[in-house]
Amino acid sequence: MGFRSLLVYSTVAAAFSPSLAALGTRRALDTATTAYDFVNPLIGTRNGGHVFAGATLPFGMAKAVADVTEDNQGGYASNGSPVTGFSHLHDSGTGGASSLANFPIFVHPGCKNDTVNGCVFPKSQRSVGVVEGSVSARPGYFTIGLVSGIKAEITASNHTALYKFTFSGNATGGNAVDGPLSPLLLVDLTDLPNTRKNGTASVNSETGRMTGTGTFSPSFGFGTYTLHYCADFKGGSIRDTGVFINTRGGSEPKNITVQEDSNSPPIPAGTYAWFKGVEKGDALIARVGLSFISSEKACKNAESEIPDFSFPDTLATAEKAWKEKLSVIQIDTRTTDNSTGPVDMKDLQTIFWSGVYRAMISPQDYTGENPLWDSDEPYYDSYYCIWDSFRSIHPFITLVDPYSQTLMIRSLIDIYRHEGWLPDCRMSLCKGWTQGGSNADVVLVDAYLKNITQGVDWDTGYEALIKDAEVEPQVWDYEGRGGLHSWKNLGYIPADDFDPYGNGLFTRSVSRTVEYAYNDFCIAEMAERLGKGDDYEKYTKRSGNWINLYKADQTSSIKGVNTNFTGFVQPKYLNGTFGFQDPTFCSPLNNFDSCYLNPNGHETYEGSAWLYTFFAPHDMASLITTLGGPDTFVSRLDFLHESGLLYVGDEQGFLPIFQYHYAGRPAKSAERAHYYIPSQFNTSTAGIPGNDDSGAMGSFVALTMLGIFPNPGQSWRL
Ligand SMILES: *[C@@H]1O[C@H](CO)[C@@H](O)[C@H](O)[C@H]1NC(C)=O
Ligand SMILES: *[C@@H]1O[C@H](CO)[C@@H](O)[C@H](O)[C@H]1NC(C)=O
Ligand SMILES: *[C@@H]1O[C@H](CO)[C@@H](O)[C@H](O)[C@H]1NC(C)=O
Ligand SMILES: *[C@@H]1O[C@H](CO)[C@@H](O)[C@H](O)[C@H]1NC(C)=O
Ligand SMILES: *[C@@H]1O[C@H](CO)[C@@H](O)[C@H](O)[C@H]1NC(C)=O
Ligand SMILES: *[C@@H]1O[C@H](CO)[C@@H](O)[C@H](O)[C@H]1NC(C)=O
Ligand SMILES: *[C@@H]1O[C@H](CO)[C@@H](O)[C@H](O)[C@H]1NC(C)=O
Ligand SMILES: *[C@@H]1O[C@H](CO)[C@@H](O)[C@H](O)[C@H]1NC(C)=O
Ligand SMILES: *[C@@H]1O[C@H](CO)[C@@H](O)[C@H](O)[C@H]1NC(C)=O
Ligand SMILES: *[C@@H]1O[C@H](CO)[C@@H](O)[C@H](O)[C@H]1NC(C)=O
Repeated sequence: MGFRSLLVYSTVAAAFSPSLAALGTRRALDTATTAYDFVNPLIGTRNGGHVFAGATLPFGMAKAVADVTEDNQGGYASNGSPVTGFSHLHDSGTGGASSLANFPIFVHPGCKNDTVNGCVFPKSQRSVGVVEGSVSARPGYFTIGLVSGIKAEITASNHTALYKFTFSGNATGGNAVDGPLSPLLLVDLTDLPNTRKNGTASVNSETGRMTGTGTFSPSFGFGTYTLHYCADFKGGSIRDTGVFINTRGGSEPKNITVQEDSNSPPIPAGTYAWFKGVEKGDALIARVGLSFISSEKACKNAESEIPDFSFPDTLATAEKAWKEKLSVIQIDTRTTDNSTGPVDMKDLQTIFWSGVYRAMISPQDYTGENPLWDSDEPYYDSYYCIWDSFRSIHPFITLVDPYSQTLMIRSLIDIYRHEGWLPDCRMSLCKGWTQGGSNADVVLVDAYLKNITQGVDWDTGYEALIKDAEVEPQVWDYEGRGGLHSWKNLGYIPADDFDPYGNGLFTRSVSRTVEYAYNDFCIAEMAERLGKGDDYEKYTKRSGNWINLYKADQTSSIKGVNTNFTGFVQPKYLNGTFGFQDPTFCSPLNNFDSCYLNPNGHETYEGSAWLYTFFAPHDMASLITTLGGPDTFVSRLDFLHESGLLYVGDEQGFLPIFQYHYAGRPAKSAERAHYYIPSQFNTSTAGIPGNDDSGAMGSFVALTMLGIFPNPGQSWRL
């Protein structure tokens, strides 16, 4: 297995400024600007970064922001598209469909002709423009101006979103010319991806309190989930309340239920409260509690977390929570190293701290909010997805916040206990789609090897790993592994697999093979530590299976020119003969060729055979020998980086930046790291190369600038 446990460390840090000064100690910063002030939550909110830019606590359930009409996976995007409402739960940085964003609030400063039906209800018609330059954000706070004359400010506690809507300039609509405004606030039984199955809502005519429930579908998974809310208002007096359906509202009845019908998207429906006597400069506060248990629990969450509707207090608490989280890292900004040319120290710090911040948004702590099973264990949700997060997010959290990582590990094991399987992806209490291997194996073993032990039931954890490795689920699209019969008997996943033992998307035979090999290696490591010699032997042997798809005489050309590198992983059939997938296929050179979870997807997932040939994170020595020795290996890596074949915006792109280490050329890892940061990780709203994927890009940039690449799933042993 060779250099399987090399921790890539320090040479990269040495060349980076700021560099790591002290981890886990609390020294006074030598600059007036604190880590908190450097965080810019708007990085990655344009060009597909899909970062959640709104207000949240670290790993908080409530994630509140303005929702826009375009590229809105994270709710808000810095693309100038108009706002359809303000909603309370989001995921961050994800691909696929938009997530959550249930029960948005929308505010009209007044209704035309001062009649309820002068206000527009449907989401598809009511959107309102963003005032240019009005958006800003910092951890725990987001603000945006709407051309209708509303300045919205947003903060949050763990399960409650708090909004302050201040009326000004453009705001019109009251019962007298230039008289007070009569704003209408509605809560809509919808979500961003328009998946509502059913819902029910009611409004209290005296207090304006709105409560309700809806059942929706997850954004990258299977099944449905039910969510509840409880909205209270402060700052205006109630003029009237009512419900709306489709395009019209009315003050009777005070509640409404909607079931699935033939409307698509689902028919607009919800409740409203109409206020009076609001002057320009006045603010209305909306407090929205959330719960997956009941609307009563949503009200309790709101009442206990934000009893007095105080915006400044809630914000101060959020600010404090973030400062505490960030305080475990200190950086020394004095540098004598100008080897990479002039560096803008402020920008580098912004890139770094914003990356750290984004790595602590997800997964979300839904402890006490899981209606699916009774348990005293923590419950975290939005492992979205572990295929993305095993490489940098969890190793980073392990390093800077081992307590949270412990809770997450316990939660993963509890999910196994009650669902029967570890997830590869999970969101909104539902099973999410598996992209490759059973990579929760890597997360568990990484944590185990790094002494994440407090209260963790590792016996059950080990049992979960063995189940992934040994038992094929009936449907392996959202748990476990497919093709296990072939995996055990042939040592690879055949492109034309015969697998009558379960069903799933019969694609990605090459990338699944190399990932299963790595998953088995991780299991072997844990078996070794537990003294389970037979398991250790068995899984170590299986971990070498990646080489079974290595076709030694496979060449690769780009536009007819031979790259002069020979030997790539290739699809293989049941009968043992190799098939063919152009090694550059599924690379950025061909716009990825639709190698996703589509039914006609191909043999490698979101990446080429060029890339997957390098994926033997545990077996670098064999890999280097197989590819012709260190020199050829280094020039092959160079070619990967320089030819346009590598996309660092997808998580498999991280490892090849550091693989030079294993060929004895660590300085070249540093050189590549310096090329990608800051050229592709910068301070602009488009400043990350791909989806942040729940903080994958953020944690990658943070780790890399600290000079660490964890090669996750392996020990720290040098
Ligand atoms: C407002 O009143 C005007 C004049 O009575 C009428 O033409 C218009 O349709 C009304 N608009 C709405 C939205 O009620
Ligand atoms: C006021 O409304 C106009 C017209 O919609 C818009 O162009 C302008 O940006 C708005 N101004 C503010 C401060 O909202
Ligand atoms: C939010 O929840 C976490 C985890 O339970 C807890 O440690 C923290 O104190 C809570 N924050 C606030 C502001 O209540
Ligand atoms: C909505 O659908 C869910 C799932 O089918 C069901 O459990 C729930 O009772 C329904 N709610 C209403 C109000 O019909
Ligand atoms: C509305 O509330 C009334 C009184 O609580 C109740 O009887 C009725 O069933 C509710 N209707 C809907 C549509 O939920
Ligand atoms: C590095 O650059 C800084 C800022 O331009 C300068 O003050 C410092 O003297 C330089 N250090 C070296 C060793 O050249
Ligand atoms: C884990 O704990 C063991 C036993 O206390 C210790 O020997 C080892 O160095 C620790 N490893 C890490 C990564 O902290
Ligand atoms: C591969 O080698 C051939 C023959 O020496 C040369 O013409 C070609 O340019 C080389 N390909 C690359 C990508 O350098
Ligand atoms: C092996 O199977 C593949 C796919 O069915 C087929 O194309 C190929 O001809 C077979 N090779 C041999 C030697 O039978
Ligand atoms: C900032 O990063 C983005 C995303 O990687 C990249 O497209 C852009 O060119 C970078 N901007 C600069 C000025 O380097």
